Amino acid sequence: MEFVHVSVMPEEVISWAPQDARLIVDGTAGEAGHTLLLARRCPNARILAFDRDPEMLERARKKLGLAGMENRVELIRGSFGEIPEHTREADFILLDLGVSMHHFRGAGRGFSYTDDSLDMRLDPDLEKTAADIINHSSEKDLKLIFQNYGEERFAGRIARAIVQKRPVRTARDLSSIILGSVPRSRSHPATRVFQALRIAVNDELGEIERALPLLARSLAPGGRLAVISFHSLEDRIVKHGLRALDLKILTKKPLEPTEEEVRANPASRSARLRVAEKPADNAGEGP
Ligand SMILES: C[S@@+](CC[C@H](N)C(=O)[O-])C[C@H]1O[C@@H](n2cnc3c(N)ncnc32)[C@H](O)[C@@H]1O
Repeated sequence: MEFVHVSVMPEEVISWAPQDARLIVDGTAGEAGHTLLLARRCPNARILAFDRDPEMLERARKKLGLAGMENRVELIRGSFGEIPEHTREADFILLDLGVSMHHFRGAGRGFSYTDDSLDMRLDPDLEKTAADIINHSSEKDLKLIFQNYGEERFAGRIARAIVQKRPVRTARDLSSIILGSVPRSRSHPATRVFQALRIAVNDELGEIERALPLLARSLAPGGRLAVISFHSLEDRIVKHGLRALDLKILTKKPLEPTEEEVRANPASRSARLRVAEKPADNAGEGP
């Protein structure tokens, strides 16, 4: 098995984790990159690592096994919104939002412009695939998805072209339709629409919005919540969501990757890290 994901802002992330932590939660295990770093930094911590995608959990299991760390980490299939069902005593919770490099390169679910069918579900038990949305939504709803989740200027033109040409079977077919309906000057005309579809299929923004208040309850007094977002829609929700909670914001401005990191891992360029802390005397929050 080849591991393809490069963890973003690794030093920055672990520097916020208390070295004497007893319980750490990685809400988005992916290929367990951050999980492993956290396990090494905090030798006495028990670690819970969640992922919605069972394929990613399998990859995480293999990576942890190779590092001899399988006994330190409990892998849990589920959304990060379910963390409070497992603990209310976390000293550190990490969310590294979105999808992993494996989803783009090897998952075969239509996240990139290949001949894979348009699926895009992270959790295989979700009912609707990207193909269901593309082939059965009204033109108006498609336009709204591309506008709201992709901030796509040509949302209307793209939605019209899709409705005229459907059924759309593969990710490559969808990207050809998009290429044919927007000006050529742009570098990757399909990026925004693919992002929008992924967000719609997995309700990614709703997941974050609902989870933040729940995660605040999962923290021990003095515990920290660190969230890495990758686009402005996510970052806006994280910024406002954290402010609305009874937490102390530790990063007035979000932290960004260094130029050196962006050179080595271009996928990190849009990463933004925000960290908040639960006040030490705020132990009496309700259920
Ligand atoms: C950017 S990757 C994490 C990479 C990981 N930090 C690493 O270093 O390998 C995001 C992961 O979060 C998972 N994910 C997305 N939304 C989720 C949710 N609501 N709950 C749990 N996992 C989720 C995805 O399946 C993906 O594996």
